[in-house]
Amino acid sequence: MKKLFAALVIAAMPALALGAGSGYPLDKVDIDLADKAALQDGARTFANYCMGCHSAQYQRYERVADDIGVPHEIMLENLVFTGAKIGEHMNIGMQPADAKAWFGAAPPDLTLVARVRGNDWLYTYLRTFYDDPSRPLGANNKVFPNVGMPNVLVGLQGKQVIGCKQVQVVEDGKKLFDPLTGTPITHEACDQLTVEPKTGQLSTEEFDEKIQNLVTFLAYSANPVKLKSQRIGTYVLLYLAFFFVFAYLLKREYWKDVH
Ligand code: HEC
Repeated sequence: MKKLFAALVIAAMPALALGAGSGYPLDKVDIDLADKAALQDGARTFANYCMGCHSAQYQRYERVADDIGVPHEIMLENLVFTGAKIGEHMNIGMQPADAKAWFGAAPPDLTLVARVRGNDWLYTYLRTFYDDPSRPLGANNKVFPNVGMPNVLVGLQGKQVIGCKQVQVVEDGKKLFDPLTGTPITHEACDQLTVEPKTGQLSTEEFDEKIQNLVTFLAYSANPVKLKSQRIGTYVLLYLAFFFVFAYLLKREYWKDVH
């Protein structure tokens, strides 16, 4: 019975994940898992801004340091705030029961979240928190309506609100331009996210890049062997190419006398 229940839950998972969606269009993000600088910046943001509430409990500091190219001492000094040793898992001190009382929902472990949600979802989610005084913690989110998580990146991004903005008119999936002047045709839309100027430390481009790096780190975390498997894959293909030459020569040798 238990097994059947587990099977049903697993079968329903994609639907559950989709069910949490809001229909808000997701922004696409390009992830380069070989970009060490992006991974390091993402790991720093994760340790500084996320690990107050979220763990990455299937991940060890040591493995992460080695994978993203950070010496152990530097990792311990800059990314470990819990007093953990380098070989320990990336756990946090917050108790799920307390968290649930404070936020209405316990912050889930994030080791595998990129597999569950996808990179585009994460990239959009982390950039679409906005001010909403009707929420207990003053913030809401476009892709995760009524989320329990507060807007923890507001200091970097700035105060984002829903307001009016000129947006380009799109018809049948095509952006419209004035045929004479070539300038975009716009109209005013009043359900648009806008960041109030000078309220955050980073410009829009800088903030987007920060989040891209953070998502790169989360994508790595959900699949730490991916880098290695790509490398091994290359060797396997090279080996096959090399082997093919000899196989071909051998075949020629065998068939020479048959014709
Ligand atoms: C102050 C505590 C807190 C901090 C700090 C925090 N979060 Fe959260 N987060 C939460 C809570 C609570 C939830 C659960 C929200 C819910 O279910 O309504 C959550 C949910 C999430 C989810 C959705 C998970 C899912 O699949 O349902 C993601 C992704 C996430 N957080 C990422 C982050 C990232 C990345 C950071 C760092 C930039 C971060 N969080 C910082 C409290 C926090």
